[in-house]
Amino acid sequence: MTRRSVLFVAPECAPLAHVGGLGDVVAALPIALRKEGHDARIVLPRYRFISTQGMTRHEAPLGVPLGSSEAWCAVFETKLPGTDVPVYLLDHLGLYDRHYVYAGPGGIAPIDNLARFSFLSRGALQLCKHLSWKPDVVHAHDWPTALAPIYLNEFERARGTSSLGNTASVLTIHNLAHQGVFAPSDFGVTGLPRTLVRDDGLLHDRHLNLLKGGLYHATMLTTVSPSYAKEIRTFEGGCELDHVLRFRGGDLVGILNGIDERLWDPSNDKALAAHFNADNLEGKAECKRALQKELRLAQRSDVPLIGIVTRLTWQKGSDVVALALDRILAQGTQVAMLGAGDPELEEFFRVRSLLGGDRFRMVTGYNDGLSHRIEAGADLFLMPSRFEPCGLNQMYSQRYGTLPIVRATGGLDDTVEQCDEQSGEGTGFKLWHLSPESLADTVSWAVHVYRDKPALFRAMQRRAMSKKFGWEKAARRYAEVYDWALARLSGQYETPNLPL
Ligand code: ADP
Ligand code: GLC
Repeated sequence: MTRRSVLFVAPECAPLAHVGGLGDVVAALPIALRKEGHDARIVLPRYRFISTQGMTRHEAPLGVPLGSSEAWCAVFETKLPGTDVPVYLLDHLGLYDRHYVYAGPGGIAPIDNLARFSFLSRGALQLCKHLSWKPDVVHAHDWPTALAPIYLNEFERARGTSSLGNTASVLTIHNLAHQGVFAPSDFGVTGLPRTLVRDDGLLHDRHLNLLKGGLYHATMLTTVSPSYAKEIRTFEGGCELDHVLRFRGGDLVGILNGIDERLWDPSNDKALAAHFNADNLEGKAECKRALQKELRLAQRSDVPLIGIVTRLTWQKGSDVVALALDRILAQGTQVAMLGAGDPELEEFFRVRSLLGGDRFRMVTGYNDGLSHRIEAGADLFLMPSRFEPCGLNQMYSQRYGTLPIVRATGGLDDTVEQCDEQSGEGTGFKLWHLSPESLADTVSWAVHVYRDKPALFRAMQRRAMSKKFGWEKAARRYAEVYDWALARLSGQYETPNLPL
């Protein structure tokens, strides 16, 4: 194995800035890569909610070309909490001194997002020079950093003298539905040549599309599960960019995310009232009681308790859950839900929670501790996503012996094995067609196994809890992708034996 140096350029990284699964991945993968001997580091903006107390402030400020001039920021350096992963924070008050990452209250994106994320992508490359560090690979994540490969190609590789001339780029697609779409009139702020605004570049449907540009420019592309890597090559799953993904199909690899098994460990989780493992589930019964108490649900051990932790969006099928809720509760279940997102859905579930007596409880907002307690205390976990690039909660659930009910799509399909009552196999319950009826039917099937086949349910829990969801395998795959990207740059186009 060759030791590689990699700079992760990302808009979020847990726990410093955490909006969704991308933030989990950007924290966990560098840790796993460092364990394998690679030099992985992270750069992200210094948002208002990231305290710089105890961090090192670099003496020299960092100059970053922005539009036709240059903007300056301070650089703070720290380690990802509890690890040896270096994190650099670009501190530009005008662009990042805000209490959000992507969008303000009500999900409204600020008008200067193109400037904010151009600065991050270009700033990442400037940072390498400021550190006199030549990473082998710049690893970008989703549309906010999709310009980094373009800056690399345009301003570093093209200049034979640049210290980053031999740096390859990898762009990971966490969610193809978000593409970073801006008015062409804003293009000037990127500082890139206008010749890039074309159909096989940054132009899509008469708008700038950062992700599309990144897909054409990055040396290699990855996405977060093998099934999603297939789905996004199709018209149905391609969010209008399937032709680009087919064009670059030979450079696109699906690598399943892992989970942080230190943070998500039922035998040692500080958020829980009791602990448990695959051989002894007594603590799980205690967690169920504690969750029922915390959420003012009837404290009954025999009632199947269904957990939901989600962004409330169309992607996650939250609207279908709303339509199926009565049918799900009519089966004698309890539902414990934690979520935030679409204001109408928030309102619907909030009102139902008020009227739901001791059977349905919805907590609105983002609450890390409660998400752990729901994963631990529930018997079943509901995640009927319309599409799911990978999904983390279904993996957390299995690790906590909480059998997931999922739609068989993307990473959900790759990580959950269907219950087979004949053979006794499986770790969860899958549905394909998504409707309130099919969702209620699949819940009814899971409830039947829970009530009438306790030995099978228990065996499925044990199997789910014994599965390996760590990052080691994924880290090795990414290292192969880095090797491949570097080989590409030096003119070798042989395809190593990689998964799709
Ligand atoms: P996505 O990134 O599409 O939302 P993932 O399943 O990959 O989906 O990751 C979601 C992450 O965010 C998980 O770590 C999950 O526990 C967490 N999460 C989502 N909503 C909430 C919430 N309301 N409170 C706490 N954690 C949440
Ligand atoms: C995105 C996807 C989710 C995935 C996460 C981390 O948020 O929606 O499925 O798990 O990124 O890769």
